[in-house]
Amino acid sequence: AKHVGVLALEVYFPGIYVSQDDLEVHDEVTQGKYTLGLGQRCMAFCGDQEDVVSMSLTAVHSLLEKYDVDPKSIGRLEVGTESALDRSKSIKTFLMMLFAEHGNHDIEGVDSLNACYGGTAALFNAVNWVESRAWDGRLAIVVATDIAMYAAGPARPSGGCGAIAMLIGPEAPLDLERGLCASHMEHAYDFYKPCGFYPLVDGKSSVACYLMALDRCYASLCEKFERQRQRAKSGNACTQSNGSPPGFSLADVDFCVLHSPFVKMVRKGFARLVYQDHLHAKSRSQARQDQAASRLKRRSSSSSATPAQQPLPLLAERGCGGAAAQTAADVLAEEEATRAGAASLDTYPADPDAFPAESYSDRGLERAAMAASGEAFSRMVQPGLTAAAECGNMYAASVHAGLASLIEAEGAALEGRRILMYSYGSGLAASLWSLIGRRIDGKFALGSVAAKLDIQGRLAGRRKADPAEFVATLELQERRHGEAGYKPERPLSDLRSGTYYLCEVDSLYRRTYARK
Ligand code: ACO
Repeated sequence: AKHVGVLALEVYFPGIYVSQDDLEVHDEVTQGKYTLGLGQRCMAFCGDQEDVVSMSLTAVHSLLEKYDVDPKSIGRLEVGTESALDRSKSIKTFLMMLFAEHGNHDIEGVDSLNACYGGTAALFNAVNWVESRAWDGRLAIVVATDIAMYAAGPARPSGGCGAIAMLIGPEAPLDLERGLCASHMEHAYDFYKPCGFYPLVDGKSSVACYLMALDRCYASLCEKFERQRQRAKSGNACTQSNGSPPGFSLADVDFCVLHSPFVKMVRKGFARLVYQDHLHAKSRSQARQDQAASRLKRRSSSSSATPAQQPLPLLAERGCGGAAAQTAADVLAEEEATRAGAASLDTYPADPDAFPAESYSDRGLERAAMAASGEAFSRMVQPGLTAAAECGNMYAASVHAGLASLIEAEGAALEGRRILMYSYGSGLAASLWSLIGRRIDGKFALGSVAAKLDIQGRLAGRRKADPAEFVATLELQERRHGEAGYKPERPLSDLRSGTYYLCEVDSLYRRTYARK
């Protein structure tokens, strides 16, 4: 199978939200802390009539319906989540209800778990299956579904919830670029769920882990890209006249979608990529200057020596510099950086061969990288942040909901473009990979997928809840955790037509669902 990737996708988020402005007042924090400080506008949350199973049932059913996909044409179904309701029974088995009624029980795949990374593991499994000898010609569906809730305190405003369902197959409009995927995985205790309802989270450490893993993935991806380019072009054809390779950078990318625990995190992550490009460019420039200097030395007797070469163009020339262009949802720390008089990134010639751990807490460097990346952020990242800013962290679904936001914003303009995707799951597992937009005809054309998403329309139709209702709902969910023998008390009026809901948890913890 060729051009295996995402054929279509559907996002689900609940019909109620709390505004982060209101939460700031309710939590008695300084104004702007959640909105400017974290970059969030609203947070989606759900009552006890919804859970991760109902949300994924809604997303999958809607995907099949919107694209008129025959349930019998599905041969693999994978789910990524960190909010499993049962330590044995996978969410995938609940979703089988949608296929069994059409006589299709022959569907491989179960659930993948690792914090916000499960959906990405599921995606890679599905793509690998379609590309493998095991493939039987049918399509795959990948689901990511999570409810992110934190105990009262600084992490609470970075919650959220939602689900996505992606249809995976050959000749896709979003083709996973094979060979251009880099992962970084290691043991860490930045965020985990050993027991109880809420996660244990070391917020500052999780932020540093996210950035460190992104650094590692990007460095590895750059190397892989270079090796690929070297292989593709024979000999030295791909090297510059002075012998140094051109190198992969953000100039090779059109859009970036980074896992969004909160928008400011994405802002910091993107600034980090720009910083890495800066280091690579500096290091190549230095190498060229060293070469030129040694040539000069060899010709030291000659008065007509060639002057040393100019340094490589740095950030501004690569489209990653310039004045920051603010947009409405901006979060952004450029203003803050300007106010604080951010230094130029050129004053940060850190050793490019080592990733300095201290650089993750270097505020001066962060401000400089933010200031240098403002325009590129608005152009390359902002279009994919709608769901993140409006719904909050969807955990496993977050990065894929970002892709959906980007598709809705750009549609057919993604054809021929490269999208860099970053998935991070605490604990930790991270991958950076690339999608190439392709022009195809029919219902899976990017323009048609964009038209069917209707994220903006559904966001506009949500009901705004006040913080007191939000907190009471969280307390209800806390009570429901591990409870048997109840019928949900929240009304169905908040659910859009076509939404699945939980009818009952019986005394043996068995859940039943229905569709509104
Ligand atoms: N106006 C504007 N900005 C403000 C204001 C204000 N009034 N008050 C604070 N800020 C800024 C701070 O300067 C800070 O910005 P900076 O990061 O650019 O310095 C930001 O708001 C956050 O404030 P802090 O006091 O630094 O952090 P806080 O203690 O509120 O916690 C944290 C933030 C750690 C992210 C917390 O929300 C958390 O633990 N979240 C869950 C963990 C998480 O999401 N980790 C990310 C990766 S792992 C994952 O995906 C789950």
